Amino acid sequence: MAELDRAAGSPAAPGDWTYAPAPESRDIVHLRERYGLFIGGRWVEPSETYATISPSSEEPLAVVGQASPADVERAVAAARAAFADGWSSLPGSERAKYLFRIARILQERAREFAVLESMNGGKPIKESRDVDLPLAAAHFFYYAGWADKLEYAFPNRTPKPVGVAGQIIPWNFPLLMLAWKVAPALACGNTVVLKPAETTPLTALLFCDVLRQAELPAGVVNIVTGDGSTGAAIVDNPDVDKIAFTGSTEVGKAIQRRLAGSGKKLTLELGGKAANIVFDDCALDQAVEGIVNGIYFNQGHVCCAGSRLFAQESIYEPLVDKLKMRLETLRVGDPLDKNTDVGAINSAMQLDKIRELVESGREEGADIYQPPCRLPEKGYWFAPTVFTNVAQSYRIAQEEIFGPVLSVLTFRTPEEALEKANNTPYGLSAGVWTEKGSRILWMAQRLRAGVVWANTYNRFDPTSPFGGYKESGFGREGGLHGLEPYLRFDE
Ligand code: NAI
Ligand code: MG
Repeated sequence: MAELDRAAGSPAAPGDWTYAPAPESRDIVHLRERYGLFIGGRWVEPSETYATISPSSEEPLAVVGQASPADVERAVAAARAAFADGWSSLPGSERAKYLFRIARILQERAREFAVLESMNGGKPIKESRDVDLPLAAAHFFYYAGWADKLEYAFPNRTPKPVGVAGQIIPWNFPLLMLAWKVAPALACGNTVVLKPAETTPLTALLFCDVLRQAELPAGVVNIVTGDGSTGAAIVDNPDVDKIAFTGSTEVGKAIQRRLAGSGKKLTLELGGKAANIVFDDCALDQAVEGIVNGIYFNQGHVCCAGSRLFAQESIYEPLVDKLKMRLETLRVGDPLDKNTDVGAINSAMQLDKIRELVESGREEGADIYQPPCRLPEKGYWFAPTVFTNVAQSYRIAQEEIFGPVLSVLTFRTPEEALEKANNTPYGLSAGVWTEKGSRILWMAQRLRAGVVWANTYNRFDPTSPFGGYKESGFGREGGLHGLEPYLRFDE
């Protein structure tokens, strides 16, 4: 026995240590072959369908509906009826009970949702398990707490629900973006028609089962799947009172144009090209972790990703050396493996976009670094990438890549860092790394970004408002601020 134990525990040759696979089981997820549209508390057969796939294996997972404008009309009618039939006049303390129930059920079913999120979206299970699911539940808990306190949140202003909210969300945080949209809408007494992104509908469809378990009245939340044309039908529907959109700046602008003069309320959470600014007095190893988290978290499919690294010239070399070393330890591969750091790119389309922009970086003259890593043969993959020798004018320093690609630029003084950081059409987020508290405050006051993280990055909390300036959109989600877009104060 002792002999055997020693044999099993004996280490491999030095330098030869590898991780054994540690896959999370898929058995907890029970996929149906096909899903309808969730309208008025029932599954409705869509006129058209398409298959949703796993981006890590390209295998089809289920057939889902492509909602037509007529389907959207039925969903809006169901939401309108539920609004009028009692949801909007329910006491806040009663609405809160539903939200608390939804939050608790999400916690109870967290593992099932996390596995499904990684299967359909490609993100590593440790992220869906430790970030997406806890934050989604936290959002429902947080807004449940506001439902019966709206009068105190807005004293002397008589807050009232807006009506039917049309909500269009992206594919990078499918369930979390649903929570960001649905929780404040319901807390304020609105009803909802929500459209998930075309590549990631499955956790939103599973969420319909949570609504059933929570016994939410029929029609309060309706989920219609489909592509951009379904989204456009929601935007154009005259009986929708408010649009909340998260996605590309291009589509956001188109929506704003279409809604001009319609009187519909609108919030837009769009793209970003965040500056992560590292001063020479910072804790360098912590900064390296923050940079890695800032751009490689969720394959860089993050609107607030720290995609432009500004390194003070005096620490440029050690910083880039440490960063490259750290990159070699990132494990790229199976999203369901618990050791995976970087999962699959969400779609073939997104992979093409990343490749095209990376190619432009090479052509414009930047130096590319990618650590040696073996990418799986099937599925959509892109190795973690760092560009150095990047000029401000290069496309990789200007455009949102939305992939695991970092552009490194340099600066000498805080003033220069600020000027370069703000030299972008976006303004969603930024990071500052320094030991000096006064410098953090000085920078935070001057950075034109909705969120500024100091000595950390990509930290989220439902109590904290999130949103952008300039082409990153307007309106805030999260916190007290996140209630306002779902309320009217007209008398
Ligand atoms: P997209 O903006 O087209 O898609 C986002 C959502 O909007 C999806 O649900 C989509 O079906 C819907 N949509 C598309 N066209 C619409 C329309 N005309 N009216 C109403 N809804 C519409 O983003 P896409 O094409 O998936 O990605 C393109 C680029 O956008 C990405 O490479 C990335 O740079 C950026 N993006 C930014 C996001 C963010 O969180 N800021 C999220 C997703 C994409
Ligand atoms: Mg698009």
